[in-house]
Amino acid sequence: MCGIVGFVGSGNAKEKIIDGLKRLEYRGYDSAGIALPIDGKIEIRKHVGEIKNLEKIIGEAEFDSSIGIGHTRWATHGAPSDVNSHPHGNMDSSIAIVHNGIIENYQEIKEWLIKEYGIVFKSETDSEVIAHLIGIFYDGDLLAAVNKAVEEMRGAYAVCAIAADEPDKMVAVRKDAPLVAGIGKGFNFIASDIPALLKYVRQVYLIENNETVVLTKDDIVIYNENGDKVKRDVFNVTWDADAAEKEGYDHFMLKEIHEQPKGISETLLRRLEEDGSVNLDGISMTKEDIESFNKVYIVACGTAYHAGLVGKLVIEKMARVPVEVDIASEFRYRDPFVDENTLFIAISQSGETLDTLAALREAKRKGARVLSVVNVVGSSVARESDDVFYTWAGPEIAVASTKAYTTQLICMYLIGLYMGSTKGTIDKEYYNKVLDELKALPGKVEAILDKEPEIEALAKKYHRKEQVFYIGRGLDSGVSYEGSLKLKEISYINSFAIAAGELKHGTIALMEPDTLVFALATQDFLYEKMVSNVEEIRARGARIIGVSKEGKTEIEKVCDEVFYIPQCIDEVSPVLAVIPLQIFAYYVAKERNCNIDKPKNLAKSVTVE
Ligand code: AGP
Repeated sequence: MCGIVGFVGSGNAKEKIIDGLKRLEYRGYDSAGIALPIDGKIEIRKHVGEIKNLEKIIGEAEFDSSIGIGHTRWATHGAPSDVNSHPHGNMDSSIAIVHNGIIENYQEIKEWLIKEYGIVFKSETDSEVIAHLIGIFYDGDLLAAVNKAVEEMRGAYAVCAIAADEPDKMVAVRKDAPLVAGIGKGFNFIASDIPALLKYVRQVYLIENNETVVLTKDDIVIYNENGDKVKRDVFNVTWDADAAEKEGYDHFMLKEIHEQPKGISETLLRRLEEDGSVNLDGISMTKEDIESFNKVYIVACGTAYHAGLVGKLVIEKMARVPVEVDIASEFRYRDPFVDENTLFIAISQSGETLDTLAALREAKRKGARVLSVVNVVGSSVARESDDVFYTWAGPEIAVASTKAYTTQLICMYLIGLYMGSTKGTIDKEYYNKVLDELKALPGKVEAILDKEPEIEALAKKYHRKEQVFYIGRGLDSGVSYEGSLKLKEISYINSFAIAAGELKHGTIALMEPDTLVFALATQDFLYEKMVSNVEEIRARGARIIGVSKEGKTEIEKVCDEVFYIPQCIDEVSPVLAVIPLQIFAYYVAKERNCNIDKPKNLAKSVTVE
């Protein structure tokens, strides 16, 4: 997510804004900037890269003011660059804005502004349209201009604007992106997040959806969407800065587990047109391209590879094309069968994993069409792909990937639906059924998160186990690999995943009385076989935690515990089945006092071979 900081009042705006931006660095960003009204116009300084790059270009002493806005950007539209960084200004530098979120109808607005007002755009971003909209509506009243601009915009946004002609006022507006106002003495702040303010204030107003805020050095006025002033209780922040970055969660991993409903919703809903069709922005494959593929490779590492295991079954089922999933470090050295009729899908949260990047280059060299599923906009994997399909999970800070995984799965479903509907291998009824199920996922994930204490209790009960198995069939098999990786990488327990049907071919020899086994049984058509597999290991004394859909209770007879996920069609159950496994791994690691966000020996992005 992007970070916003605005300051108005007595004192050095530049210094306070930079301080605030630095407290937002944990959110992940790729560029930073600041805007200050100086000598009757807005001066903007911005730079790609870290805040220290920005500090270098704003070092000059005269560049200061008692009001200003700053921003750290997490790119969604337009690669990281100086010109795409925020703040954005209008053409005569009388207005500047910073924005967090996505303006869904920015193209339409941009074309209108160019056609009707001859606006010359500088950046590739959606956000720049906001500065120009406010600029054309501005007639000396910034609040009125912002309100008019907002009427034209669709999407999610937290925006803060300043005007050269009103250098004592900031106007901010919030819709589906966080915003807080910091209450000072002789000064006031606006920010995306509480950590940005904690050095200077402990009292804030939490701005609610569709509210607009006018801040001067001595006043903060909040308006609702009808333009009425609202009275807001003061929120006293008791957190320390470190806790505030995690928004009260003990670890980034738990925060990111809880961000999954939003990430799934962002990754999915922004790609659904009003007629229900899927708009795969960033993908230029034609019908002919899609029909020309006689093979698909999904290549990745770690959790991303596990998303590929699900993607294989989903894309094969929907698009009826052979899909091979490969670990990137293996793919690149086995002289794979790749040619111009091959679709190569790279999955990578960071977009910088060297093994995945090298595999992508090998596939390109052999003529494949490359589509990447990436979370970091403008990353190396994204830049070197023919098409990029972004997950909009927001920055993932914890080394153990959670929200990136579930949003990668959403991309697998959307690619499968897109290819299947293009090729005619799925009918409209099935297409709509899957789409409806995907839309219901955020709510169902929330329902599982509400049962967190139940999973925490299981973790407390079993956290001393030194070996844990994860088994499943079909889609559950891929999810069991992900559940196993989550546990081993943050709790250091030796966990092991295997296709349930494979157990009897050797691994069952490891089953001892009290061996702990997670048995995933969410695939209706394989349910009976899973129950049989569980009976086999139960007969050897194992302790079994089943994961099953609500209503499928037969497995209770052979399990010691069962965690139920909401009903859903088999295809989409991986998005739900993985949640209890993530939470279990988290609380086991917590019980074992492990360094959950930064596990030993691990890096968030493995940029070496
Ligand atoms: C997953 O929890 C791990 N952090 C790791 O396996 C990770 O998924 C893998 O290194 C791939 O990273 P990427 O998605 O950034 O390419």
